[in-house]
Parts: sequence; C-alpha cells; structure tokens
Amino acid sequence: MWLKPVNTLLLRRRLIKPLVFALCGMPFIQLALGAFGVQGFSLGANPVEMLLHSCGKWALNLLLITLCVTPLAHISGWRALFAYRRMLGLFAFFYACMHLTIYLVLDQSMLWSAIIEDVLERPYITLGFSAWLMLLPLALTSTKGMIRRLGQRWTQLHRLIYPASILVTWHFYWQVKQDVREPLYYIAALALLLGWRLYRQRTRARSRA
Ligand code: HEM
Repeated sequence: MWLKPVNTLLLRRRLIKPLVFALCGMPFIQLALGAFGVQGFSLGANPVEMLLHSCGKWALNLLLITLCVTPLAHISGWRALFAYRRMLGLFAFFYACMHLTIYLVLDQSMLWSAIIEDVLERPYITLGFSAWLMLLPLALTSTKGMIRRLGQRWTQLHRLIYPASILVTWHFYWQVKQDVREPLYYIAALALLLGWRLYRQRTRARSRA
C-alpha cells in the first residue's frame, strides 16, 4: 500500500524534476552555444538583439507558465503540479536577470548615465525595470526557510507576481514598433489567467457567505 506514494515521490524527484529543470535550461544552453560560435547555433546578424529578445521572451513565457500551475492543478485535480511552481518561477527570474544583464553590459556598455536616462525617459524600460524590482523579492524569499519564517506574509508578498506580470506584458506591448499581434496574444493569455483567479476568489467568497 505505502509503495505507491513512495514511487510517485521518487519518480517526481528523480525524473520529472530534472526533466523540467533541463527543459527550462535548454534555451539558455542554446543561446550560450550560439554566443560561443558553435556551428548550428547562430545568433543571426544582430547577436545582442537576439540574446536580449530571447531572454526577455523566455522570462515572460516562464512567468506565464508559472501562473498556469494553480489553475491547471485545480481544474485537473493534479496537485502534484505545485511541486514545479517554484522552479518555473525561479527560471523566469533567471531569464529576466539574463535579459537585464545583456541590456546593461552588451546593449548599453554599462554607461550608467545613459542607462538612468533610459529608465527615466523611456516608459517601456521603466515598466520592465519596475517589473524586475517586483520579481526580485519573490526570488529572494523562495526558499523553504523563508516560506516558513514569513508565514501568511509570504503569500501576501508573492501576490506581487500579478502586478509584475501585468507590467511585463505591458513592457512587451510598448516596445513593439509595428505588429502588436504577438504582445496582444500574451495580454489575452494573462487576462485569462488573472480572470480565472478573480472568478475563483468571488465564487469562494460567495459560497462562504
Ligand atoms: C529589468 C529591466 C528591463 C529592461 C532594462 C528591459 C529592456 C528591454 C529592451 C531594451 C528590450 C528590447 C526593445 C527593442 O528592441 O526595441 C526588451 C524587450 C523585451 N523584454 Fe525587457 N527589460 C526589462 C525587464 C524585463 C522583464 C522583467 C521581462 C520579463 C519577465 C522582460 C521581457 C521582455 C520581452 C518579452 C521583450 C520583447 C522580446 C521580443 O520582442 O522578442 N523585460 N526589454
């Protein structure tokens, strides 16, 4: 009888978690191979732009995938999905940090006056930077010790993921010069994910009342 849960736990630890980790790390490896000039992994005519855009896109993709975990787990009843939420969120932050580093080092050559001017005067950069600042405390408090120490405040703090993801999709929308279809798809996906949460909160409050 007790063998079944032990096996699922082992399967999760030894197979599924490393697999999710490898999948999340794959875009980074692909970009790193391209940056080191490995044949078949070219970064195209503008490598800095390619690196900047790919890391930004992966950060956003993983942020939305992280937000999918709760609705998927509730709708399917497969609560084991929660075990991967932290890893997905941390990978989203990792790609956001790569995106920021590429912007600071390769795009702006660490010219601080130009960077400060950019953050203050280009609204889409202000949005991206504000979103990153919101994601920072979430990553710093993602350890088991911090979850225990912060208790209820941890849940409240981690609600920052909602405004952060709104700012990020807005940042994406604003930096597009012509065809806004792609950011609009992301905005629609985010609206669905946040809408589901609002709906669930309302129905729960109503049934409690
Ligand atoms: C930390 C501060 C940030 C800065 C300074 C920044 C800067 C930039 C820049 C310069 C671009 C390219 C704009 C262009 O080529 O005209 C960009 C695009 C983008 N950024 Fe950010 N960003 C920041 C934060 C973020 C965060 C936190 C995310 C996601 C979690 C993100 C996601 C994106 C996406 C999805 C794009 C568009 C990529 C594409 O078009 O394929 N950014 N950002």
